[in-house]
Amino acid sequence: MDVETAAHSGAPEATEEGGSDGHLPGIREAGVGQIGPTGRPLPHFPEPTPLSAHGPARVIAMCNQKGGVGKTTTTINLGAALAECGRRVLLVDFDPQGALSVGLGITPNQLDVTIYNLMTERGHDVRDVIQHTAVEGLDIIPANIDLSAAEVQLVGEVAREQILARVLRPVLDDYDVVLIDCQPSLGLLTVNALTAAHGVIIPLECEYFAMRGVALLVETIEKITDRLNPRLEIDGILATMYDGRTLHSREVVQSVVEHFGETVFHTVISRTVKFPDATLEGKPITTYDSTHKGAGAYRQLARELIARGGAA
Ligand SMILES: Nc1ncnc2c1ncn2[C@@H]1O[C@H](COP(=O)(O)OP(=O)(O)OP(=O)(O)O)[C@@H](O)[C@H]1O
Ligand SMILES: [Mg+2]
Repeated sequence: MDVETAAHSGAPEATEEGGSDGHLPGIREAGVGQIGPTGRPLPHFPEPTPLSAHGPARVIAMCNQKGGVGKTTTTINLGAALAECGRRVLLVDFDPQGALSVGLGITPNQLDVTIYNLMTERGHDVRDVIQHTAVEGLDIIPANIDLSAAEVQLVGEVAREQILARVLRPVLDDYDVVLIDCQPSLGLLTVNALTAAHGVIIPLECEYFAMRGVALLVETIEKITDRLNPRLEIDGILATMYDGRTLHSREVVQSVVEHFGETVFHTVISRTVKFPDATLEGKPITTYDSTHKGAGAYRQLARELIARGGAA
């Protein structure tokens, strides 16, 4: 099946502008067994079974050194969708821009203690820095611009790559999933995230050149696996800002699937202004506009991740 056919055989287009107001009735654009937006038959992702006990957490780094690909948006909304499934979720803002914190309604520049203090000073209790969000089961360790100094400060530290892992260790038993929102770089902070993680999710924007730089990222992940964290694996590659009306978007997804095969999530995230709108309100889309298909997409991603064993 060619790209054109694949993208059209599935059911309604996965875009807000594609002839609806974005509020499609079902969670899936393409039904189970139909060809989904990645050109493969869409499997069934069952409702996750409720957990009777919590922890220890599986830690996932949201990582791509390319900027603006949807790392922060995915961290917020996948986190919220997992929390809706009854999972206890801790988000870690690991970007000095603090966009994750802002996107959950926190004003990070007014905070005295953030992930920066946990990373660079001894004697803090991580529990004092964790904040609850308006979403039940969703907590966050915020960051602000202070973190931009950490990279330089940590260079001379012993075991400088393992500091985040040490910071998170005391609370891993309290959560089912920890999602780390990395900054767009492959520097020491991102190396810390990859060293603390069990898995990596790589968001890729559906634009030409989306895969430029991914080889370097994969190489970095392999080096971390060899030298620092043998358990690390790529949980999945997530196509974001997909516009099914454009051949362009469909071709990008097709070539990503050709390169990475089953590593690519069946779920793709469409381009819609609801995401920046929700961020401005400081809410996940699942709260801001619960019935919007963007919310449905992240709920499906949560189910797909659980079905893959990427989360409990
Ligand atoms: N699916 C989407 N549709 C439309 N806009 C989106 C989508 N996902 C993210 N955005 C918007 O694109 C911008 C970049 O997204 P985001 O901040 O999530 O990327 P990022 O990879 O975290 O960026 P950075 O590398 O700067 O940290 C934001 O304004 C966000 O609201
Ligand atoms: Mg970001």
